[in-house]
Amino acid sequence: MLACMLVLAGMHLFPKNGNPDTVEHSPANSKCFKCHGRPTYTFYNKILGRNVTKRQNPYLMVDSVLFYESNHKSLECPDCHSYKYNHFPHNSELQLEPMPVCLDCHEGDDNYNFETINKEYQESVHAIRHKDAFSCFMCHDPHTYKINVRSDENIDKTIVYDNNICLSCHANFNKYQLISSKRNPNIIKQHDWLPNQIAHFAHVRCIECHTQTTNKTLVAHKVLPKEKAVKKCVECHSQNSILMASLYKFQAKEKRNKYGFFNAAILNNDSYVIGANRNLYLNYLSWVIFGLILLFIVIHAVLRILTK
Ligand code: HEC
Ligand code: HEC
Ligand code: HEC
Ligand code: HEC
Ligand code: HEC
Ligand code: HEC
Ligand code: HEC
Repeated sequence: MLACMLVLAGMHLFPKNGNPDTVEHSPANSKCFKCHGRPTYTFYNKILGRNVTKRQNPYLMVDSVLFYESNHKSLECPDCHSYKYNHFPHNSELQLEPMPVCLDCHEGDDNYNFETINKEYQESVHAIRHKDAFSCFMCHDPHTYKINVRSDENIDKTIVYDNNICLSCHANFNKYQLISSKRNPNIIKQHDWLPNQIAHFAHVRCIECHTQTTNKTLVAHKVLPKEKAVKKCVECHSQNSILMASLYKFQAKEKRNKYGFFNAAILNNDSYVIGANRNLYLNYLSWVIFGLILLFIVIHAVLRILTK
């Protein structure tokens, strides 16, 4: 139910009506999309001597709109897949071809620091328990992954996007089973201890509680075993909330100077995290009020002694 809501929210926030025409389409890609971008494909059958239309396998479909909105919109399919896919029927040996990994193309990028992310990922439960079956592409769909957390317009959108990455397996029996034959634990039941789960899952990401944050990367990638997950309320509901080092990290860096006080990022995101929001001016004001009350009591006492 919750998963459905989040997925629906995701669909609402990321409507498939972006205008792909604003991105320059590669003619090479268009050839592939003719067969991989729609539910049917047509080819010339030499034996029958005519065109034949067949149904495409849904697992082999690539959404062209999402592709041209993704980080990799400027790539051509053969940048990752063999150019030999231009021939149809495809040579079955192409299936044996190794695929490039992120680091093949992104080495030495100081902005994102893929090397550190890779190291953190190698220490995550997913990599340790499912070495070969798991990869970066399991969370970063090669055809749709789009950077979110750095576009600081709407933090709620980022939360939905990032949580849907995790829920694509943890709330989806079929995809989970691609990796593990274990029973997929019910996410809602496992988080029963968290009050107002819907509000929490809409305002924090799974990775806030399930990863070890460092100051080397913007998005922590070391997913820890469940025993090490954050369970204490004060980790977030306190003045030095862990959220400042994770969810609000990008905003905190960008906005702190602008607004002059530490929790600008939290206040600016229309989020009121009980305990974590603390406005300096309100703090001063409360001291002033406290002082006035003390003064009043003293004057009152003095007057009573004098009038006795
Ligand atoms: C005429 C239709 C057609 C065209 C054009 C086409 N494909 Fe395919 N493709 C298919 C069909 C059908 C399959 C499933 C059968 C198969 O694997 O051969 C497939 C399978 C694939 C697979 C999966 C192979 C696997 O591991 O099972 C990949 C990857 C792929 N195509 C990439 C491409 C790329 C890249 C292009 C463009 C350069 C392309 N295709 C052009 C029809 C097409
Ligand atoms: C950044 C690299 C990259 C680009 C660019 C890319 N792909 Fe892929 N593609 C992959 C990877 C990696 C997989 C395997 C994903 C997996 O195993 O989960 C894949 C899987 C596929 C599959 C399914 C086959 C399978 O084994 O699941 C098809 C079909 C496909 N790609 C077609 C395309 C088409 C068409 C384009 C161009 C519009 C394209 N790809 C562009 C990396 C890429
Ligand atoms: C075949 C090479 C190739 C592979 C493999 C590849 N990328 Fe990329 N990636 C690129 C290129 C080229 C760009 C730049 C596109 C542009 O600037 O328009 C890019 C852009 C990006 C961006 C956006 C950078 C920015 O500042 O806009 C991110 C993030 C990214 N890739 C992450 C990944 C991740 C994560 C993986 C693995 C899951 C991956 N890439 C795999 C080539 C690749
Ligand atoms: C368990 C899921 C998961 C796996 C596996 C994973 N990532 Fe990520 N990654 C995420 C999430 C969630 C984000 C945040 C996306 C956003 O909102 O922009 C992210 C963000 C990123 C970013 C952008 C960080 C930034 O500073 O903006 C890069 C680069 C990246 N991942 C690379 C990788 C590489 C390389 C691997 C494999 C070594 C990998 N990821 C594996 C979930 C994953
Ligand atoms: C491609 C599917 C997939 C994706 C995507 C995925 N997971 Fe997982 N995850 C699994 C599987 C399968 C296991 C079970 C590992 C095992 O015990 O064999 C697992 C295990 C875990 C565990 C450890 C539970 C334990 O037993 O200690 C945590 C925590 C977790 N995932 C969190 C996340 C988070 C957070 C994300 C998103 C950033 C995410 N996962 C994305 C498939 C996935
Ligand atoms: C507020 C912190 C918090 C958030 C947010 C959170 N979790 Fe958890 N999660 C935990 C804790 C703590 C446990 C361990 C519960 C226990 O063992 O009693 C846990 C357990 C799990 C498990 C292990 C289940 C099992 O029994 O094997 C998985 C998988 C998991 N969470 C995934 C997720 C996903 C996916 C999300 C995002 C939709 C998420 N979590 C959001 C704190 C959190
Ligand atoms: C990972 C960080 C995190 C943890 C851990 C956490 N919270 Fe929260 N909590 C939040 C955020 C963020 C909000 C949402 C603030 C907003 O509404 O914008 C929130 C909201 C709430 C709310 C208000 C819900 C509403 O109706 O708006 C209550 C009550 C609450 N938390 C109690 C708890 C309790 C009790 C625990 C411990 C069992 C806990 N939280 C653990 C981050 C956390």
